[in-house]
Amino acid sequence: MNLPSGQTILSGIQPSGVLHLGNYLGAIKQWVALQDNNTAYYCIVDEHAITVPYDKEKLPEYILDTAATYLAAGLDPTKSTVFVQSHVPAHTELAWLLGTLTPLGELKRMTQFKEKENKQQAESNLGLFAYPVLQAADILLYQADLVPVGEDQTQHIELTRDIAKRFNNKFGESFTIPKAYLPEGTSRIMSLSDPTAKMSKSDLDKSYIALTDEPDAIRQKIKSAVTETEPVISFTKSGPAVQNLLQIYEAFSQLSRPAIEEKLSTGGHQKLKESLADIIIEHLQPLQEKYADLRSDETALKKVLAAGAAKANEVASKTLHLVKEKMGLA
Ligand code: AMP
Ligand code: TRP
Repeated sequence: MNLPSGQTILSGIQPSGVLHLGNYLGAIKQWVALQDNNTAYYCIVDEHAITVPYDKEKLPEYILDTAATYLAAGLDPTKSTVFVQSHVPAHTELAWLLGTLTPLGELKRMTQFKEKENKQQAESNLGLFAYPVLQAADILLYQADLVPVGEDQTQHIELTRDIAKRFNNKFGESFTIPKAYLPEGTSRIMSLSDPTAKMSKSDLDKSYIALTDEPDAIRQKIKSAVTETEPVISFTKSGPAVQNLLQIYEAFSQLSRPAIEEKLSTGGHQKLKESLADIIIEHLQPLQEKYADLRSDETALKKVLAAGAAKANEVASKTLHLVKEKMGLA
């Protein structure tokens, strides 16, 4: 795939516990590939994480876990700006300003809001409703061209585009209109226990592979993954459960689809599962070793985040200043 260059990139993940294979293949793997020839900002969106019930003792740990995961996966702080959202106050301030340009009807349509709202009605709050506006602020502050995310985020990126266009029309050209950047084949990794649901950490433990899972756990989870009853192993003819396993395999292997089918077609589901577990373990092992190293030095991690916040603040405060001026607030 031809990688974009010369673009501004922004993305983020919530520090809400372990990251899984869906986060890695849907988002982080692309982040790493994009950092070389673009200007990249990767954020740990802690202010998004507090829109659902959370543990205030654990949040600081999760922030460092997420930072260590970013770096272990290959983000290089000399190439990418890695920072924590709440360290850059312009995010919440711009979110307020953009909120005044966001129709309630558009927010009510957001799938992620509807799902979360259904799950925890009693805990629903304004922050959860305004979540996509804060996400728009994250993106627009850096004038991002591309937002590398999984498929579930495209609706939020569309909303961001609408808000940016509305602002530009009303107050004059100010924001770059961003685009979602989805990975080929892995923009929606499905649950191992239900191929109709996306892989998610809020699901059963055996339905997702955490990036920190031990080899034995990975083997067990892949072994117990559901498959269709027909033995066919094919990117086009298998059912969705087997296709999902094949797509994960493809993402980690250097092989073409026909070569993968050829290699795995004879041993049935058992061989597919064993080979898949092997290739996941092989690829996660170096990440896990680096993670353990990085996570054990909190001072060093905090230093990276402080340097990232300083750089991010510089860019973000400039955009915010411009926006306030245009809105008559300066
Ligand atoms: P979240 O864990 O929901 O904060 O997601 C963080 C990033 O991972 C976002 O870019 C998501 O689109 C992406 N992501 C989450 N789950 C999946 C999945 N099952 N398949 C592909 N991408 C995913
Ligand atoms: N909403 C995203 C998710 O749940 C996380 C996020 C927050 C984000 N701000 C962002 C993603 C800005 C991309 C760009 O995964």
